Amino acid sequence: MKIVIAGTGYVGLVTGVVLANTGHNVTCVDVDQKKIDLMNSGKSPIYEEGLEELMVKNKERLNYTTDYKNAYKNAEVIFIGVATPEHVDGSANLDYVYEVVKQIAENLENDCIVVIKSTVPIGTNDEIEKYLKEHVKENIQISIVSNPEFLAQGTAVKDTLYASRIVVGTEDERAKEIMRELYEPLTKEPYNVPYISMNRKSAEMVKYASNDFLALKISYINEIANFCEKVGANIEDVTKGMGYDPRIGNKFLKAGIGYGGSCFPKDTKALHWLSRKFEAELKTVRACIEVNKLQKIRMYTKLKNDFKSLNGENVAVLGLTFKAGTDDMREAPSIDNIELLLDAGANVHAYDPIGIEKFKTAIANRIPDETVQKRIQYFDNIDATIKDCVAVMIMTEWPEIVNYDIKNFKKLMKTVAIYDGRNCYSLEEIKKENVKYESIGR
Ligand code: UGA
Repeated sequence: MKIVIAGTGYVGLVTGVVLANTGHNVTCVDVDQKKIDLMNSGKSPIYEEGLEELMVKNKERLNYTTDYKNAYKNAEVIFIGVATPEHVDGSANLDYVYEVVKQIAENLENDCIVVIKSTVPIGTNDEIEKYLKEHVKENIQISIVSNPEFLAQGTAVKDTLYASRIVVGTEDERAKEIMRELYEPLTKEPYNVPYISMNRKSAEMVKYASNDFLALKISYINEIANFCEKVGANIEDVTKGMGYDPRIGNKFLKAGIGYGGSCFPKDTKALHWLSRKFEAELKTVRACIEVNKLQKIRMYTKLKNDFKSLNGENVAVLGLTFKAGTDDMREAPSIDNIELLLDAGANVHAYDPIGIEKFKTAIANRIPDETVQKRIQYFDNIDATIKDCVAVMIMTEWPEIVNYDIKNFKKLMKTVAIYDGRNCYSLEEIKKENVKYESIGR
């Protein structure tokens, strides 16, 4: 099958590489020539375990190009996997999707199935179909299929090969057959991925409902954790006790500093926005968003309460990425917390094993003033980061941070005050050190 993938971010590139690995010929299209050159040299533009190995292994079946005209011309199946960021009002911005749709309409010369993998509001597939049917050359048969993606960053390859499910939304019989055939290798041994067919709007909804449910689970457990602090319970014991109930499950119950990343924040806002548009506000989703906003800065709130002034003091921040295992900085709680620290006059010592470069770009976008940016110093090891600091905030659960010898805090810091937003250390161990320690829900 001649498959083309539009967009080489996490969703597009991983999908393309995995489909090539199952035997398809795949052309990956992107507007960014630098990225294309990098991929043509066998390198991945994103940090994702196992991805480069699969790119090398399947290089005969993979093409990377900016030449969308040629790529779309004779494609049998085109996947759209470009970003759908948020507008300021929370609604989904579909500009990149429509840019690709327009290019497809202008260049397509054969019958084709257009598969929407990008996360798009319910009803978007219908609109895309209407646009394409009106704009493709005469006599071209076109079908639109919704095929949402469920991979998580850091485990993207595994999540695609051994996916929890493949959801395919289409009412078109020919498209149904082709999609079945395309995904057949993944539905068999050794992958055995469940394959679920439904109508397009339901498939679009599965994506939002899944992400928002997971985000809600996190906000719920974070709120319970905050309440545990008030009443003297321990969230880790509480979640252990809850997780044994198979109806609840033990996944996604880790209390922390709220969800970040490129998906949950935008997908909760987009679904909430859509529900209001339909005058059917999703109140649970609204609550989830509100809880998360406060949770992201909970560590700073605690720290600020403990210090009369932070002016001129050094504060260490361990971990910058929104979670471990990725260099992605989108909606990372570290950005909000560091901005608040700088506002309060503190100097920041920042550490992250792989995210520093992307963090520099993210913070420059947030705080354009270079004199303020210069008050952040970057370090490549934890010892140097915490040296002479009055407090340390833990923002990401990197193994280097979780396994750090807690005795060093006392040895190296000016005063020891630890604000652990990821519950990295055991309370027993910390007690032995007799230091000021705040975590979540314990
Ligand atoms: C998420 C979903 O997990 C994927 O299924 C989905 O396909 C993806 O969004 C997407 O829509 O593209 P991702 O954003 O990569 O994946 O990251 P997650 O591992 O889900 O974590 C999201 C945030 O929740 C992180 O900030 C993480 O630290 C936080 N989290 C997660 C918790 O605070 N507690 C938990 O128990 C789990």
